[in-house]
Amino acid sequence: MFHQEGNGLDARCVKELRGLLEGFENKREALIPCLNIAQRWQHYVSREAAAFLAKETDTSLAEVYGVATFYHMLSERPLGKNVIRVCDCLTCHVKGGPAILGALKEELGVEIGGTTKDGKVSLLESPCMGLCDIAPAIMVNDQAFGNLTPKRAKDIAKAVKIGVSRSPAGRKRPGKSGLRSKVIA
Ligand code: FES
Repeated sequence: MFHQEGNGLDARCVKELRGLLEGFENKREALIPCLNIAQRWQHYVSREAAAFLAKETDTSLAEVYGVATFYHMLSERPLGKNVIRVCDCLTCHVKGGPAILGALKEELGVEIGGTTKDGKVSLLESPCMGLCDIAPAIMVNDQAFGNLTPKRAKDIAKAVKIGVSRSPAGRKRPGKSGLRSKVIA
């Protein structure tokens, strides 16, 4: 069990958040990367995290939730340890997205929005992730995979289920905001 501070957050999460905030004169500018950190530690943005960040960034709770609900990479409800996001936009759709989604559902045994019974993987749909050039594409946490076939999607889901974080042909390239990074698979 992790040590938790009085605000209900893991002490290491708080340490990381405060470390980041120290580098910002205008704390509000740190809100998005802070939300991303909270999401990484908790697998969602809890009420406690939102309240903590509102206080630390001198922002209203409504504003924190406004940002958290705007970015599809953030979630207000608990998710699995890993999150697979399947693009449901036009380019991916015409390039075989529905078959990719079907393969992932079958492999994971969950519907869209669901989490595997062991809590390891959540499956979500996503608006365009800016990976149209490698459609059909998915994101696994902060890694992107493209030019997928149903078989390859299943292999990736299998690897995620057994805990291989750098599954088939993945390479991480951190994004500026920390909200997203791309991997050309
Ligand atoms: S349409 Fe799927 S990533 Fe853009």
